[in-house]
Amino acid sequence: MLKDNKVLLGKSGDEEIVLYPSMANRHGLIAGATGTGKTVTLKVLAEAFSKMGVPVFLADVKGDLAPMCKKGTDNENVTSRVESMGLAREGFEYSAFPVNFWDVYGEGGMPLRTTVSEMGPVLLARIMGLNETQTDVLSIIFKIADDEGLVLVDIKDLKAVLRYVGEHAAEYSAEYGNMAKVTLNAIVRAVVALEADGGELFFGEPGLTVTDWLCTDEEGHGIVQILDCRKLILHPKMYSTFLLWMMSELFELLPEVGDLEKPRMVFFFDEAHMLFESASKALMEKIVQVVKLIRSKGVGIFFITQSPSDVPDSVLSQLGNKIQHALRAYTPKEQKAVKAAADSFRTNPDFDTYRMLTELGTGKALVSVIDESGIPTVVKHTKICPPESFMGTLDETERLSIINNCVLNEKYMTPEDRFSAYEYLARREQEAGEEARKEQEALLASKKKEKEIAARDKAKRKAAKNVANTAGGTIGRELGKTLGAALGGRFGKTLGGNLGASFGRGLFGTLFDATEKESD
Ligand SMILES: Nc1ncnc2c1ncn2[C@@H]1O[C@H](COP(=O)(O)OP(=O)(O)OP(=O)(O)O)[C@@H](O)[C@H]1O
Ligand SMILES: [Mg+2]
Repeated sequence: MLKDNKVLLGKSGDEEIVLYPSMANRHGLIAGATGTGKTVTLKVLAEAFSKMGVPVFLADVKGDLAPMCKKGTDNENVTSRVESMGLAREGFEYSAFPVNFWDVYGEGGMPLRTTVSEMGPVLLARIMGLNETQTDVLSIIFKIADDEGLVLVDIKDLKAVLRYVGEHAAEYSAEYGNMAKVTLNAIVRAVVALEADGGELFFGEPGLTVTDWLCTDEEGHGIVQILDCRKLILHPKMYSTFLLWMMSELFELLPEVGDLEKPRMVFFFDEAHMLFESASKALMEKIVQVVKLIRSKGVGIFFITQSPSDVPDSVLSQLGNKIQHALRAYTPKEQKAVKAAADSFRTNPDFDTYRMLTELGTGKALVSVIDESGIPTVVKHTKICPPESFMGTLDETERLSIINNCVLNEKYMTPEDRFSAYEYLARREQEAGEEARKEQEALLASKKKEKEIAARDKAKRKAAKNVANTAGGTIGRELGKTLGAALGGRFGKTLGGNLGASFGRGLFGTLFDATEKESD
């Protein structure tokens, strides 16, 4: 809850345990075994930020964050805490919070889309589970698309460009580096699988403009952007990559702001271990860099996970505000993780951190925050405040009514399909096809003409042959008769006949040439 412009997290005895808004960009961790109170703690934080006018983003994995849009009601868990912690006099009041719902599948919220090119080859490769070589080739594909002015908006575009590059692989390989057919085929298969997984829904336009999230309602409360992840979480790589993409978008879009009294926006990433699972070294470096640098843009990130050991040390060391719920310590591995968690706190002489971590009750936590001078506070055993918003489940019709009434609905609800790589290449293919068709027609026409000429000539030759046979025969026969008469007997007759035929061919053959020249 909000008190004196600070986040009142809870109480340690009578002492108020607060989180300083000016230090929210030093990021945070909410950890604890299942059922220990992480989600409720997250709500308490998010509510206070919203009330102080800070926009919030939440990844709602189970659907239990959605009821933040409704006022809380009396329930045993809440009323007993309000009473025992004396929260009524601190200003605790049941409140509803302004929320927008989003969903990459467009079911539990407005469609959250991005374009293929905005996602970029590295994150896309992660979604598709490509290996290093395939990732390199995908990067080349993006570079070719860029150089050729092929706009990659949706999966259709990516498929069209892949096909186009595949058809010209030899030419492009010479210039951009080798692209083996087998690698290209593997990428195509991965893209087809991504499409079947819903890729055609979340790669497209209008893509999310993350700065649309930097807003407050008319009362000055920060709007809580809730990404419904109930379906998305079933695709862990997609879930984690989308969150990474959002982080990098914010990082790229927001200007440097230095130290602020309160953050510009706060992000809560549930099931945070998924962000780091199977992340390549390069991606891990990028995550660490973004987490480090986004601080100067006034953005705070809170990672929620079961054990701090789920978060790599390079990221963990960036998380200044720590809320650690109970941890289990049955196996040596768990004990090691609890020890590491205990060692990460500034010790409190009043209790043994390790033991306390294993004994904490539900809704209680060990808390250490970055104080106003930038120093981590001594760890405190804290009873966490209850949330002011509703703790049950949200009716789907209530969700739908919020979605339909959202001011951003008009901008994001209807997909657009603008002229991009797919349409461009299809048009080029059609034009090439048109040209080829024209060439083919011209070729057929000229062949037809040749055939006609040949047929005509053949007819002429035939006619000429008949004349020659007749003329040659007559002359030859006359000549033969004369010669035969001169030479006498059968020999003369034969010679006369043959000579007559040969004469005729020779004579009209010359004539044929002349006819041909005339007709040319
Ligand atoms: N601060 C609190 N005030 C009131 N009730 C609480 C508080 N913290 C936890 N609870 C109670 O404990 C239940 C479990 O808490 P919560 O859902 O936050 O656990 P979790 O750690 O998020 O569990 P999971 O790991 O399964 O997501 C809540 O439904 C609520 O009844
Ligand atoms: Mg939870």
